[in-house]
Amino acid sequence: MTCTKCQSLCASRTQIVEPDLPEFGRHCLVLVVGEAPGADEDAQGKGFVGRAGRTLHKLLEEYGLRRGYEYGCANIVLCRPPDNRRPTMQEIVHCLPLLAETIDRAQPRAVITVGETATRGITGIVGLWVNIKALREHGHDPRIAEMICPPEIKPVWPHGSLLVPIPHTSPLAWNRNAPDGRKWAEVGAEQIRRMVEML
Ligand code: URA
Repeated sequence: MTCTKCQSLCASRTQIVEPDLPEFGRHCLVLVVGEAPGADEDAQGKGFVGRAGRTLHKLLEEYGLRRGYEYGCANIVLCRPPDNRRPTMQEIVHCLPLLAETIDRAQPRAVITVGETATRGITGIVGLWVNIKALREHGHDPRIAEMICPPEIKPVWPHGSLLVPIPHTSPLAWNRNAPDGRKWAEVGAEQIRRMVEML
């Protein structure tokens, strides 16, 4: 595919990192959605192949979920931002239709969003902790997006899929403390355990 919508990303990327879905059958049980490719992903042309990816895959494997079989991977923005900065809202808006297409193709039973940026891109709700709490309380009722999200954002809400935000799995983010005093890593593992129980 080609895309030249974002000047800054066109200058910083080596290649566009397209989503990869399970090879057998079009639908996947779980779709993981990250923020954007990092250096390793940009070099290899595949999402979640660096350190953050390894932490994520290890966690999911503990619950019997295998990449390419039970789950596929995508990013909210398909090109590596310069110096690994967070994607801007404009860049997210440019890329969201592609994510909508991917979700449509994959028809996942659950969507795991990795980190605040990916989560906000889908729900429109600011703050990872707020997203985790709101989704636990209201299930996956898309009306919470209308209730909380700023009017300028049109979220790509995966209708019918469970939405499961987890902290970013980069070593720095994963080992910080969450607002309740636990490590974010512990909150992430709890989110995956809850998801597996619900699937
Ligand atoms: N790798 C990705 O492809 N995306 C992320 O968000 C983190 C690591």
